[in-house]
Amino acid sequence: MYSAVQPSGNLTIGNYTGAIRNWLAMQDEYDCFFAIADMHAITVRQEPAELRRHTLELAATYLACGLDPQKCALYVQSHVPQHAELCWVLNTFTYVGEASRMTQFKDKSQKHADNINMGLMDYPVLMAADILLYLADYVPVGVDQKQHVELARDIAIRFNNRYGETFRVPEPLIKRDGASIRSLQDPAKKMSKSDENPNAAVFLTDDRDTVMRKFKRAVTDSDNRVCASEDKPGVTNLLTVYSAFVGCTVEEAEKTFEGRGYGDFKLAVGETVADVLAPIQAEQKRLLADRAYLDGVLKGGAERAYKVARRTLSKVYRKVGFYQGD
Ligand code: TRP
Repeated sequence: MYSAVQPSGNLTIGNYTGAIRNWLAMQDEYDCFFAIADMHAITVRQEPAELRRHTLELAATYLACGLDPQKCALYVQSHVPQHAELCWVLNTFTYVGEASRMTQFKDKSQKHADNINMGLMDYPVLMAADILLYLADYVPVGVDQKQHVELARDIAIRFNNRYGETFRVPEPLIKRDGASIRSLQDPAKKMSKSDENPNAAVFLTDDRDTVMRKFKRAVTDSDNRVCASEDKPGVTNLLTVYSAFVGCTVEEAEKTFEGRGYGDFKLAVGETVADVLAPIQAEQKRLLADRAYLDGVLKGGAERAYKVARRTLSKVYRKVGFYQGD
């Protein structure tokens, strides 16, 4: 199993319920590789000191959420050189046409019109290299990354057809069950860490007061009835958040708040979220103060990743005809 997150800023509660928390159950069942995708992050401009800080913070977050470095390989993408090396080979198996048709490339080209660099277009090929290096069967991702995993499949199949069975053809694992958390200010949009409205997203690092304030300001409607329905997207979203953090169904959450007004409801959602975040934040803080431990975990993870990556890459180099000595 392979997945990664970019160290491009704070994670939201949506990243937590939609990604990291689901990985916890998987680490017991699968051979897991979880990366910090710093090479992907530089496809848009990063402040170097910030990128370093975000990388460490993300490592601490992974651990604080419960990922166990004994069970899975936690590592930084740029620590394993085979990602860039395989990416180069896979570039020769990717058509310019298909790369330029990727939805995210088109979106990001609009958003960063002053910096449509080659890396931005190559982003999904690097992602294919990530996945294929570890012969991953499953790739848990959000729906927004599904197209990229499908491209990785196409590239794997294309390569295998030409050179014989080399790569595993990976499958995206898309979380369906309601964990898609929307913006608190505009439930038509996904909750995003880069939203320009500061009240739209709740971050894993938000303190209790901030969490409470954001939920208090969350948009609802004038009806004052706590129930989920299509014409009540704000309330539905808050019910989704509540159920995801309590671990109940949306119907059960509706029952809990039957007959109670929005004020009460928002307070309860905020408290529930803050209660879950508090121990994670304390643990993250403790870990960030222990740099030697964090460095050790990342070093161990990179060594584990390197062993697998080196094996796959050398096979690929042999297949494409690179001379590797006698
Ligand atoms: N592109 C992914 C995202 O932004 C992060 C990522 C990089 C990734 N490499 C990956 C996800 C490999 C899954 C597999 O969310």
